[in-house]
Amino acid sequence: MYTGFKHLHSFLPYLLMAALVITIIIFAIKMSKGSAYTAADKRLSLITLILAHLQFVFGLVLYFISPVSKAALTAETTMSDATNRLYAVEHPLTMLVAIVLITIGYSKAKRKEMSSAKFKTVAIFFAIALILALVRIPWNVWPA
Ligand code: HEM
Repeated sequence: MYTGFKHLHSFLPYLLMAALVITIIIFAIKMSKGSAYTAADKRLSLITLILAHLQFVFGLVLYFISPVSKAALTAETTMSDATNRLYAVEHPLTMLVAIVLITIGYSKAKRKEMSSAKFKTVAIFFAIALILALVRIPWNVWPA
């Protein structure tokens, strides 16, 4: 079970990062061109949102079954050791904030009337989330 979730949690970031980058670039271009926000745009941001939520669920499961997080949480050096702190606190919390921002961006955009405001809201929230995720990915083990 652990291996399965680890593989899912390790593979999905490729799709999530790609979806975030694609959504941000397309929405920034469409905003600058004054394009209309179509059903396809809504679908793209929804797919990104779903990928983010899936990643969160896999990460949450891993947090309780992974020997890496168990070791980080039970070590006497949880906060003083950089690797333990990353897995026990920094990675999960930062990613949680990133996923909350993606969710807020998607929901706020739905309530906006103008297309340009929808594009702008999603692009900004998704971009901040992407930066946060990039900052706290365990780069020493990923990509493998
Ligand atoms: C946008 C959200 C997230 C991204 C992009 C992400 C990305 C990653 C990556 C790339 C790894 C390294 C995987 C590998 O070793 O190949 C990892 C490991 C891990 N993540 Fe996340 N993560 C996210 C959210 C979360 C959340 C919300 C939690 C916990 C609540 C979490 C818990 C963990 C744990 C425990 C590991 C270590 C797994 C192990 O090696 O046993 N992640 N994450």
